[in-house]
Amino acid sequence: MKKVLVVGGTGYVGTQVCKKLLSQGWQVTVPTRSCAQATHLQGLVGLTLLEIDVHDEAAFTQAVAGHDAVVNLVAILHGDQAAFDKVHVALPQKLARACRAAKIKRVVHISALGAHAQDPQSAPSMYLRSKGQGEAVLIEAAGAGAQRAFDLTILRPSVIFGAQDKFLNVFAKLQKVLPFMPLAGAEARFQPVWVDDVASAVALSLAQEDAGTTSAAKPKIIEACGPEVFTLRQLVQLAAQLSGVRGGRGRPVMALPLWLGHVQAALMALAPGEPVMSHDNLDSMKVDNVASGALPGLQSFGITPAALRPIAQSYLNK
Ligand SMILES: NC(=O)c1ccc[n+]([C@@H]2O[C@H](COP(=O)([O-])OP(=O)(O)OC[C@H]3O[C@@H](n4cnc5c(N)ncnc54)[C@H](OP(=O)(O)O)[C@@H]3O)[C@@H](O)[C@H]2O)c1
Repeated sequence: MKKVLVVGGTGYVGTQVCKKLLSQGWQVTVPTRSCAQATHLQGLVGLTLLEIDVHDEAAFTQAVAGHDAVVNLVAILHGDQAAFDKVHVALPQKLARACRAAKIKRVVHISALGAHAQDPQSAPSMYLRSKGQGEAVLIEAAGAGAQRAFDLTILRPSVIFGAQDKFLNVFAKLQKVLPFMPLAGAEARFQPVWVDDVASAVALSLAQEDAGTTSAAKPKIIEACGPEVFTLRQLVQLAAQLSGVRGGRGRPVMALPLWLGHVQAALMALAPGEPVMSHDNLDSMKVDNVASGALPGLQSFGITPAALRPIAQSYLNK
């Protein structure tokens, strides 16, 4: 039985990736900072939780050894430059060294639409710039042609919807309590992709290597997007409609100019917990989050990406 280490496997997308890989016969190891926080994965047959600090290179290298493949989903949405560098750049560097040392054959790395490995600094936010740097680190370490150390697939998803998502669910919840929706970046465009399609792409990427059918001569970069483009305003309205807020009419959306969005972000930063919208999130929305079309999409795996409405209806309308 093939073994895969799913780093970031406890998270929203990682959980679906783990379940997909288990269903396809993989033996899955998930490193986590806290097994106690990962109760949703406990008891899954074929899955082992490993409590380690993935930033401790010796411990991480030891965890990677003995696996056939590694999937990396670790990321943060909020933090300062040092935090983004640690999680999105230094961790891929450690992962690359560990994979080379352990002779890992395949790595799948989940990045984000809007990250640019070739020109990371061209991205508008710390999140996207550091994601691009992380991609570049892995591409260089993977190598190409006969010299390649491991096969690498990078998935760049737009925003990911699914029963546990943190955007449609949040928009629906907020509209249940607020009289109106103050919204910065209302006209920013996204191409939401279903979490199950992302998980399938990870599994298919690993399966191709497993079957020996394709051995990529150079790293593959995939734009993981759904079939439709929505503005943020449309997504907020759709969340209300599908969850039945005010009989499906939702709350009036009050589009905020960018400067007022930053005032809102500053106020949110004062509250405990993760903000709904940070300064860096606002910076990310300066560019549309839609597929460029210059790179392959999920269709290159034979996946027909699912439409948002019927799936979102099934979990928002509860
Ligand atoms: N969700 C989306 O809409 C979306 C859109 C585009 C791209 N993506 C990408 O998809 C991937 C998965 O996203 P997600 O939404 O599933 O994220 P998530 O739910 O926040 O999960 C993040 C994972 O990373 C680990 N992690 C978080 N901070 C860490 C830190 N400082 N040090 C070490 N580990 C840390 C957590 O592990 P433990 O807490 O168990 O240690 C957790 O398993 C990420 O690469 C993200 O950038 C997501």
